[in-house]
Amino acid sequence: MTKLAVFASGTGSNYDAIVAATKDGTIDATVSLLVCDKPKAKVVEKAEKNGTPMFVFDPKQYKNKAMFEAKIVEVLQTEQIDWIVLAGYMRLIGETLLHSFEGKIINIHPSLLPAFPGLDAIGQAFDAGVKVSGVTVHYVDAGMDTGKIIAQQAVNITEDMTREELQQAIQQVEHQLYPATVQKLITRGE
Ligand code: GAR
Repeated sequence: MTKLAVFASGTGSNYDAIVAATKDGTIDATVSLLVCDKPKAKVVEKAEKNGTPMFVFDPKQYKNKAMFEAKIVEVLQTEQIDWIVLAGYMRLIGETLLHSFEGKIINIHPSLLPAFPGLDAIGQAFDAGVKVSGVTVHYVDAGMDTGKIIAQQAVNITEDMTREELQQAIQQVEHQLYPATVQKLITRGE
């Protein structure tokens, strides 16, 4: 069985969607690990309830990124993880992880990349007044939201839509598109 590690820093609605998809058979894999860089994040409570094994760390306790990523790689290898699924992990992935899991790290971003990379992509799109935004799933490289695109889905922004409504619409798409894309990658055996 394919083993996934979900990396998250916040609420964990995508973590929830992926766990649910592994349970209802949409994804033929297990979420074998949650990696979180924010000990107080909501996603940690969720993983505790679900019984997902966790590696929760405080980056300030390490000398640099290479040090905490080396520790993460150790845990990933112990758990025999196949894929790293970033789900709101708000940190650039460094060389240590990229090198150890080459071509096996994916991310979800709440815009149609290359438009609106970085923080608050939903707010950026809303403020720019674009009529279409959406969701991108992509491979992770050393850049900020720059890796090869795997899947995208558009979301229309209507005249009367609030920022909150746009966020809801985008997250709804994320919760479908991410599990479906993960399953496609697993099936392809990449
Ligand atoms: C998601 O909307 C995800 O696309 C975004 O963070 C949110 C996490 O929500 N990620 C990025 O902006 C990455 N650049 P969640 O914690 O509820 O899954």
